Amino acid sequence: MPGLADVERVALACTLCPLSQGRTTVVFGEGDPHAQLMVVGEGPGRDEDLQGRPFVGRSGQLLDKLLQEEAGLARRQVYIANVVKCRPPGNRDPLPEEIAACRPYLEQQVELIAPKVVLTLGNFATRALLGTNEAISRLRGRTYPFGLGAVLVPTFHPAAALRGGGEVVARMRADVVRAHQALERAQPGSHPGPTAEPILAAEPGLEVP
Ligand code: URA
Repeated sequence: MPGLADVERVALACTLCPLSQGRTTVVFGEGDPHAQLMVVGEGPGRDEDLQGRPFVGRSGQLLDKLLQEEAGLARRQVYIANVVKCRPPGNRDPLPEEIAACRPYLEQQVELIAPKVVLTLGNFATRALLGTNEAISRLRGRTYPFGLGAVLVPTFHPAAALRGGGEVVARMRADVVRAHQALERAQPGSHPGPTAEPILAAEPGLEVP
């Protein structure tokens, strides 16, 4: 079985979709390869494309702050990846065929890191990993079983939270708390284990453009 470095080596030379033609760098992902928490975003923006690292712009600052404040986790303690590894031009949404072409990289990252909790940011990551077309505003607010004994916690994309203001940030914050609770439940010896039941009742949907 290839390791994370092998998968990264292949991804760095990838030309499977047209996004490869416009990229400066492939943003494979970074963090602790044994992290219990994996964060999955949508795709690199301008700053990420230039630096080759995920979530280094304003969205990343909000993500780092919420992870630290609500889960006590520094960036180096989690693993952060995106659904697509190359920047869509002008920050447009990734196309279904681009997501499909990049999917094996994300799947291998999830398999090799084997996180206990996956925090998905926004529609694209949540839909890709839950296999649904529902909107994030309807999906967030609870946990979902994911893989073998893990749970998935959907939340808003930090860029949407920055646009949406305090109320959206507060819901994102509540989701990070939810992810932290799920991590604590997943510690060996603790109980009960990861659950398919909502930790908190889903809050009423809040549409974020
Ligand atoms: N937005 C994302 O979805 N991913 C990044 O890496 C940066 C911004």
